[in-house]
Amino acid sequence: GDVAVLVPAAGLGIRLGPGGPKALRLLRGEPLLVHAVRRVAIAPCVGRIVVAAPADAVDFVASLLAPIADVTVVAGGATRQASVSAALAAVPAEFDIVLVHDAARALTPPELVEAVASAVRGGHGAVIPVLPVVDTIKQVDNSGIVLTTVDRSALRAVQTPQGFRRDVLVKAHEAAVDDHTDDAGMAEKLGVEVHTVPGSEAALKITRPFDLAVAELLL
Ligand code: C5P
Repeated sequence: GDVAVLVPAAGLGIRLGPGGPKALRLLRGEPLLVHAVRRVAIAPCVGRIVVAAPADAVDFVASLLAPIADVTVVAGGATRQASVSAALAAVPAEFDIVLVHDAARALTPPELVEAVASAVRGGHGAVIPVLPVVDTIKQVDNSGIVLTTVDRSALRAVQTPQGFRRDVLVKAHEAAVDDHTDDAGMAEKLGVEVHTVPGSEAALKITRPFDLAVAELLL
């Protein structure tokens, strides 16, 4: 495959409870990162996977992933953005398409990886998978009083993998000043048109205990 996938997993998230990096939380006995990488590796377009791990856990993460796929593991940085940059720097020059994926979206189907990559290959500099927003959305003030109801027909919930022409992602990272949790947001700031493709409900972000329970049922 001609596509490189970056997985920033160097954070020490605690939202599923105390005890370690979010990406290493277990789902049916295996870390979320392992589930995520397994599905990414199945996608035929993927030729390289680079994971950013906590600096003191690079060898451990490499040993976790070695049985799953041929993965490059690098030390992440102080912020998510720094971790993505570190992973990007480890991508060989021949990869023109780079996807950034969240380990917490552990059940993302390989088909979604393919769809994002083909949209980039089709000429879009930046591509994100999105879902319609099903709930009614209200804007509230500091005390929780409703200010207004937002027109949800124009809103989308954003998933990963987010796909980029390599030069677009490199430029976005060079230009970005503060930490971003959304790589496409950095491309937007550069004035790059961000294309959307239909997301997948299976690509849910496994963040809270409820999501972990849902993911267990889906497996
Ligand atoms: O903690 P947060 O939800 O912002 O992290 C989002 C993603 O970025 C997580 O997968 C986390 O592991 C990653 N991250 C990273 N390097 C950091 C901070 C976060 O790779 N320094």
